[in-house]
Amino acid sequence: MATVVPLSPRSASDEATDRAATVAILQAAYSGELAAAYAYRGHWKSLWRVRRTAARCEIRLIESEEWHHRHLVGEMLAELGAGPQRWREAVMWSIGRFFGSLCFVGGWFGPVYAAGRLEAANVTQYEQAAVHADRAGLDVYLPQLAEMVETEDRHERYFGALIADHPLLPMAARLLGWRPPARVSDDS
Ligand SMILES: [Fe+2]
Ligand SMILES: [Fe+2]
Repeated sequence: MATVVPLSPRSASDEATDRAATVAILQAAYSGELAAAYAYRGHWKSLWRVRRTAARCEIRLIESEEWHHRHLVGEMLAELGAGPQRWREAVMWSIGRFFGSLCFVGGWFGPVYAAGRLEAANVTQYEQAAVHADRAGLDVYLPQLAEMVETEDRHERYFGALIADHPLLPMAARLLGWRPPARVSDDS
């Protein structure tokens, strides 16, 4: 009969490591939300043609959800005795502004593909934050993190659906690694 080896209890230093990992991921997410919000602001403002009205409204809503995430993550960081990293804030502010302004001069496919890929990364980021928070005994944050994973997943699916049939998608997916999640069929 096989001997059952009891799982060793997690040490205080394991928990400290997971708490530090949670904080590091949340700091990256906090600044990432800033870049996303500014990029989306540029994006919806560039969609001034009447036939783009629906996309303009949706991306404006997504921008507001990214600001909301930033607010929630900022509160979590403060409760954990941490705060934003200044250098990361500066870098992400510049990136968000740069991509936001690029939407006025570039085509449609590039910004939408970049947004979908970014949202996929955000899903993973909040999933990882939840894993570390759980291990660190910070389960109080799990419901909010799960909600953010769900919202980022919805954002990824929205941008993915916009370019799912674009002729440039196969090449972009080969080069950059992200392809839109499978669409849920209408009758499922
Ligand atoms: Fe977000
Ligand atoms: Fe998002």
